[in-house]
Amino acid sequence: MQVNSKAGFFISLEGIEGTGKTTQSAYLSDRLAALGLGCLLTHEPGDTVIGEKIREVLLHTGHKEMTFMTELLLYNAARAQLLDEKIRPALARGMIVITDRFSDSTVAYQGYGRGIDLELIASLDSIATQCTKPDLTLLFDVDIETGLRRNRKINKIDRLELEDIAFHTKVRHGFNEIARKDTGRVRIIDASLPLEEVQEAAWKVLSEEMKKKGLL
Ligand code: TMP
Repeated sequence: MQVNSKAGFFISLEGIEGTGKTTQSAYLSDRLAALGLGCLLTHEPGDTVIGEKIREVLLHTGHKEMTFMTELLLYNAARAQLLDEKIRPALARGMIVITDRFSDSTVAYQGYGRGIDLELIASLDSIATQCTKPDLTLLFDVDIETGLRRNRKINKIDRLELEDIAFHTKVRHGFNEIARKDTGRVRIIDASLPLEEVQEAAWKVLSEEMKKKGLL
């Protein structure tokens, strides 16, 4: 279960709607398990009793009056709860943690998408996360139309998905900007490829990074 006795290894999966992050996180977790390395899988917003209630408020399609600032604060609140309850304790025990979305989603959606000041987002993030950052981020990139179409196929519609193409285009651009500015942490995976190829590409990056750090 443990990769080492101290630091753990923290991986975030990011991307616009419909990139298959949830399927990818389960696949990566299975690959690690096959090597005898269990990991904690989490997703945002939610994954705690309080976080799931916040998720409901955030994603309810009827909550059209929600202000961008309320949205930003609620995503941060859900993240703070998840970190304290699950992620930080697991990392402290030396575990691998894979999270489906983390701080980059807030920068991309609330920063680039909604237009909230990036410095304000960064300072709130440092309060909510107490500066806990992923060791590695896999950014699954696909064009907006393909992503939204995939989600509609599985009937996944929430308040943010209902935003127009212009919003999602800004979000995708935001993710790519994050990757461009932090090439050490963020690796882009082409999620337009067939599922098996995306999985293999994600595993290749993850396993290579873990080998570099002596964790595999
Ligand atoms: P999900 O569909 O991956 O479960 O994510 C829920 C929605 O919340 C998705 O539309 C992305 C959005 N989101 C933000 O806008 N900001 C955030 O910080 C996070 C974590 C998610």
